[in-house]
Amino acid sequence: MNVYEQVIELAKRRGFFWPSYSIYGGESGFYDYGPLGVMLKDNVIKAWKEAYIAEGGIMIDTPVIVPESVFRTSGHIEKFSDLATECPKCHNREKLETVMKAAGSDLVLKSEDEADKFLQDNTVKCVKCGTRITKAFESKQMFKIPEQVSSGNLYLRPETAQGIFVNFKLLNTVFRGKLPMAVAQLGKGFRNEISPRQSLLRMKELNMGEVEVFVIPEKKFWKDLSPGEQIKFAPKNGPEVVSDVKNAFEKGIISSNAMAYFINKTYNILKSIGLHHGNIRFRQQHDDELAHYSVDSWDAEALLDDSWVEVVGIADRNDLKKHQDATGESMSVKVDDRDVIPSIIEPAYGIDRMALSLLMHSFYTRENGFKVLRLPERVAPYHAAILPLVNKDGLDGLARELHEKILELDPYVYFDQSGSIGKRYARQDEIGTPYCITLDQDTIKEKTVTVRERDTTKQARISMDSLVEHGILTNPDIRKFRESLQ
Ligand code: GLY
Repeated sequence: MNVYEQVIELAKRRGFFWPSYSIYGGESGFYDYGPLGVMLKDNVIKAWKEAYIAEGGIMIDTPVIVPESVFRTSGHIEKFSDLATECPKCHNREKLETVMKAAGSDLVLKSEDEADKFLQDNTVKCVKCGTRITKAFESKQMFKIPEQVSSGNLYLRPETAQGIFVNFKLLNTVFRGKLPMAVAQLGKGFRNEISPRQSLLRMKELNMGEVEVFVIPEKKFWKDLSPGEQIKFAPKNGPEVVSDVKNAFEKGIISSNAMAYFINKTYNILKSIGLHHGNIRFRQQHDDELAHYSVDSWDAEALLDDSWVEVVGIADRNDLKKHQDATGESMSVKVDDRDVIPSIIEPAYGIDRMALSLLMHSFYTRENGFKVLRLPERVAPYHAAILPLVNKDGLDGLARELHEKILELDPYVYFDQSGSIGKRYARQDEIGTPYCITLDQDTIKEKTVTVRERDTTKQARISMDSLVEHGILTNPDIRKFRESLQ
């Protein structure tokens, strides 16, 4: 089994995520987050949100249902679609791109006519049953809501961004008229995927964390760059380079300060939640891949098994002018006595893809065959588990008492008294709990407990009082122990 398959197995068995509606046969493109998955996802969102609040960003929450007029202006009604194929025999539907790739072609075809001509002149086969495909069709990616309102049609949003753009003037007033300004929105987006697959990677209903950074167009400046870590870049017009972001900007690999800044920021967020440095790269989209709204775009990609997968897209876009032209409402801001319509740098985070990537990058199997999630403390569902070594001699009662007290400081602490201690450690390792706190005979005598660290399995003795006073993550004794392991 590859890592993806092992993570999918673990995710379902331990309650991170699983396919939705399975008792009714399932519905492709929809996944449920289980008890541990909700906690993990919340921690990913917290890391993302805190990174942008610390940046001086502000937040908004707008409806998932959006009038057609907004998406006419943004270009989604006309252009947000995929070319697709349907097998004449088995009726399997795929993106045209998928069947072309399987036939060995990377050609990007832009219209039904172009696609039909290619399919008639070349042999392209159904990826499921091998029947020849000769026709393509355009498949719209937005879900239209059947109920109409008096003012016209409504759609489920495919991106949260438009809710920010239409509120730009109000937001900028709240922000006291200043530029640059970063606005973040977290929420669901909906996409009518032709062939949803690979669990959290391609869903019809997804969790998005989008940030719209409004900048002065001529400069596209956010903040001065500092050198930062070495990052792998795959520019559209040249070979892969490894560089820090400041150097990449100065060499012209990245075209604007703001794009460079948020590439670096994205890299730091991804690393902080557990993606591995060596398995992250930034790939610039080729012109024929760009979304209809974007003039330049860098994808943060994670290496998952053997494939690079987009996790975050950072686009350079200009939607405000379009909304001004459509509504007659001014979208400009006074900058040095000039009226300026800001440009936008948009880091758009796929929260579900981040969650799956961090699980895959954290997963490993010990020599004894036991599975471990090496999750950073900040995303692990539980920070620690309290385990009485035996359920007698008053140890179980003492452990319950300790648990109750720690819960007052930190609710993310689990209690487990069933099974051998080895089994209980293994259960916690598998869900990424960084520390196990074990109470034994010495606990009764000395009021001390052992702390076992997940990755090294090393142990140290610390006092119960210290746990009651400081909890887990900010506990000085646990910190000292952790540092001694580096
Ligand atoms: N707003 C970015 C996206 O739709 O992917």
